[in-house]
Amino acid sequence: MLTLRSFEQRDWPSVWSILEPAFRAGETYAFPPQISEAEAHEAWVEVPAATFVACAPGGAVLGTYFLKPNQPGLGSHVCNCGYVVAPEAQGKGVAYAMCEHSQREAVGRGFRAMQFNLVVSTNERAVRLWKKLGFTVVGTLPRAFRHARLGFVDAFVMYKELIA
Ligand SMILES: CC(C)(COP(=O)(O)OP(=O)(O)OC[C@H]1O[C@@H](n2cnc3c(N)ncnc32)[C@H](O)[C@@H]1OP(=O)(O)O)[C@@H](O)C(=O)NCCC(=O)NCCS
Repeated sequence: MLTLRSFEQRDWPSVWSILEPAFRAGETYAFPPQISEAEAHEAWVEVPAATFVACAPGGAVLGTYFLKPNQPGLGSHVCNCGYVVAPEAQGKGVAYAMCEHSQREAVGRGFRAMQFNLVVSTNERAVRLWKKLGFTVVGTLPRAFRHARLGFVDAFVMYKELIA
């Protein structure tokens, strides 16, 4: 059974150990691959409205996500999230559970929609998963992501209204 709960500062070493290889790889997030631990903490924990972890029964952190408004002011009813799952825990529904949890959290906090701004087109697992969870590709940004291995690749803006 997966437990989803709010991030606590004691989780940071585990969360960073999950984020660091994902960011260093430069294949899925636009964060600079050489991002420092302090910058990652700021981006994942300090700037967002909330950060969560998904834990195994023994307590090990398997995944993490953040939730924040996508825009200030008149766009602040639309939220944005980022999700990362530990490589050894992938393919077991952790991101699916985190995304469902984030949608409930978002509605509870008054958000009306969720937007992913830069889903890398070559990140097929993520694109398929977000579609399965009801997100639509509303636009393609031509060559907007500089993939560490593949060079310039398209990125998708994906969107889901949470309140009809
Ligand atoms: C993209 C990412 C978040 C997906 O996480 P994940 O936990 O592996 O995703 P899930 O397991 O929930 O879903 C992936 C697939 O596993 C399947 N799955 C779900 N439960 C499963 C289970 N119990 N056993 C096997 N497979 C399962 C899902 O149906 C899904 O199948 P699909 O590929 O046909 O869509 C993860 O690969 C990751 O962290 N990547 C690096 C960072 C990243 O890309 N973040 C997203 C940026 S947009």
